[in-house]
Amino acid sequence: MRVGIINVTGYAGVELARILLRHPEVELVSVTGRSAAGKKLREIFPHLVDTELIVTAELDRVDVAFSALPHKDSAVECLKALEAEARVIDLSADFRLTDTAVYKAWYGVDHPAPEHLPEAVYGLVELQRERIRTARLVASPGCYPTSAILGLAPALKHELIEGQIIVDSKSGVSGAGRTLSLTTHFSEVNENTQAYGLSGHRHQPEIAQELNKLAAAGAGARGPVEVLFVPHLIPMIRGILSTCYAKLAEIPARPELQAEIRQLYRDFYAGETFVKVTDAPPQTKHVAGSNTCLVYPVVDPRTNTLVVISCIDNLVKGAAGQAVQSMNVMLGLPEATGLRQLGLYP
Ligand SMILES: NC(=O)c1ccc[n+]([C@@H]2O[C@H](COP(=O)([O-])OP(=O)(O)OC[C@H]3O[C@@H](n4cnc5c(N)ncnc54)[C@H](OP(=O)(O)O)[C@@H]3O)[C@@H](O)[C@H]2O)c1
Repeated sequence: MRVGIINVTGYAGVELARILLRHPEVELVSVTGRSAAGKKLREIFPHLVDTELIVTAELDRVDVAFSALPHKDSAVECLKALEAEARVIDLSADFRLTDTAVYKAWYGVDHPAPEHLPEAVYGLVELQRERIRTARLVASPGCYPTSAILGLAPALKHELIEGQIIVDSKSGVSGAGRTLSLTTHFSEVNENTQAYGLSGHRHQPEIAQELNKLAAAGAGARGPVEVLFVPHLIPMIRGILSTCYAKLAEIPARPELQAEIRQLYRDFYAGETFVKVTDAPPQTKHVAGSNTCLVYPVVDPRTNTLVVISCIDNLVKGAAGQAVQSMNVMLGLPEATGLRQLGLYP
């Protein structure tokens, strides 16, 4: 199987290259870049020590194309790849939101390819495995949404919570990408913590869309959920830790509820390679460099609140790793092929 990466020079693109160059069942044959076109990939990224790939302006013919371009430009390149009969996995936000009016409101432009939205499958493998298997176009989820949705899916599916959900997330700086900006300078980020996106972050409608799909799939009486999302930037490179809060549907919380919910989460993710329910609050260090999502649900009986802590590496499970997980499913390969690496510690 021949695979290619559109825009290898961003953090998501180069992380895809790191994973795909060691994938035993596919060959990375083509990588594109704008300013890097014509250069050797390993000259730009010396950690990719043994590849002879040259960055090109246009993608070669491939079976599977990954796009790691910014939104809007990404959709345009995805269409070209679809026309060339590749199956496409888009890491940008272009095919994640199902409503073009919502896309325009948050991204400020008309959707570049609305006719392809109906066929796009949201690439959260644990929840969409069957649809991904036959998909031609996969919209790989955003990094914050991945952590929040995996943390809350069992609770919503089983109608344990209702009303407003608060998602309080901390992210490392690589989530903001490789493009230079004042807010990601070392001296702005180091020994500092800042909330941002308080007037609205583009991942909020994505989280709300997917959580409401889950809420609607329950027995039905609970109604839609509201999502309040506040992201924070913290002084580390990789990682997202989301702490999610929601009122329990069953009030007051019985003493046994804690153990029941932990078991329900374990049953929900039983058999999953990449989502694990932990017995202690997970930390970003536990997942750095791996495709794992660690989830820890806990009941606060004083306020009848379910608190769920969810940790991922934003560049692996939040981007390149889960895109490769989708590719494995699309190609009928074992889902963990090329993704077995454990977290880096310390
Ligand atoms: N970072 C994450 O954690 C993460 C997680 C999930 C999804 N994503 C998504 O993945 C995509 C890439 O994100 P990223 O964080 O990897 O970005 P990034 O590191 O900021 O990538 C920027 C790179 O893309 C090139 N570039 C920028 N605009 C371009 C354009 N219009 N056309 C061609 N090349 C362009 C730039 O290269 P030159 O200027 O040198 O050409 C630059 O090297 C985005 O859609 C993002 O939403 C990112």
